[in-house]
Amino acid sequence: MTAATARAYPNIALVKYWGKQDAALNLPATGSLSLTLDVFPTTTTVELVDGPEDAFELNGGVATGTPAARVVAFLDLVRERAGSTARARVTSVNAGPTGAGLASSASGFAALAAAASAAYGLPLDAPSLSRLARRGSGSAARSILPGVSVWHAGDDESSYAEPVASPELAMVVATVDGGPKAVSSREAMNRTAATSPYYDGWVTSTRATLDEMVAAAERGDYTRMGELTELSALRMHASIQACDPPVRYLAPASVALFDRVAALRSEGVEAYATADAGPNVVALCRPQDRDAVADALRGSGLAGEVTVAGSGPGVEVTDGRA
Ligand code: PMV
Repeated sequence: MTAATARAYPNIALVKYWGKQDAALNLPATGSLSLTLDVFPTTTTVELVDGPEDAFELNGGVATGTPAARVVAFLDLVRERAGSTARARVTSVNAGPTGAGLASSASGFAALAAAASAAYGLPLDAPSLSRLARRGSGSAARSILPGVSVWHAGDDESSYAEPVASPELAMVVATVDGGPKAVSSREAMNRTAATSPYYDGWVTSTRATLDEMVAAAERGDYTRMGELTELSALRMHASIQACDPPVRYLAPASVALFDRVAALRSEGVEAYATADAGPNVVALCRPQDRDAVADALRGSGLAGEVTVAGSGPGVEVTDGRA
């Protein structure tokens, strides 16, 4: 095959990944658990070309600098495994906002892993594809899979995502700021590990939180899953805010949205808030509550766009030609 197109969806972690045990292999310090969404997909085409260089086009514009360098480094990995020296033209389109803490790097590297391995003729099963996607961006390991999955810490062989039995979940994404963030998650993650006095506590407690979350998911305990989701998000942000120099991703409106979600619970709608490395807030809820949660977040006046999402599919190669 000389060209392939793949589509992958972002995921939002209920138990966050924050910190690496091995930066070169992108091995996480702890496991994490997420829900792959059914909104904001990335669609990526990889086409092998005759030229001397790779080319990367993102959302209709030529990408340069760090984003392009990360794509070239990723293609080098695929070429090494496929025994190929051919360069590629990569065209990628994000349906959601890029670089705003809404997991565009997860859907992006999951789609790139599937499209590039297909274009270079490297047949990979889901665990191998998840391991490969992990090298591009840690959280991308989880966007290979549909629905709820756990991404294991471990070594290069064993660090991939696997499905977890879970009650049906929905999420409501409240965009506070759709622009790119000031400090990348990569930089902030390194800084947290190097300087936050809370980092060790974060790593130790996250191992326990993950075990408890998997058990809650498997016994269908939505309430405990929700409580652990907020706990994991707030503990991650606490350790990030304590690094030197500090990084604060949550804006005043983000904090107010956490309060609005807590108020919803006292009104009888059982939603829980989380946020990644950015100011946007995502509310976890039961599928039957998603419209009530969306109405409340829209009505709060705190969010720009409010998007309702359900459990989404795993990565899929949608087109390939020889
Ligand atoms: O995959 P990265 O390197 O962009 O890190 C993502 C980290 C968080 O989104 C904040 C948490 C997570 O588990 O997705």
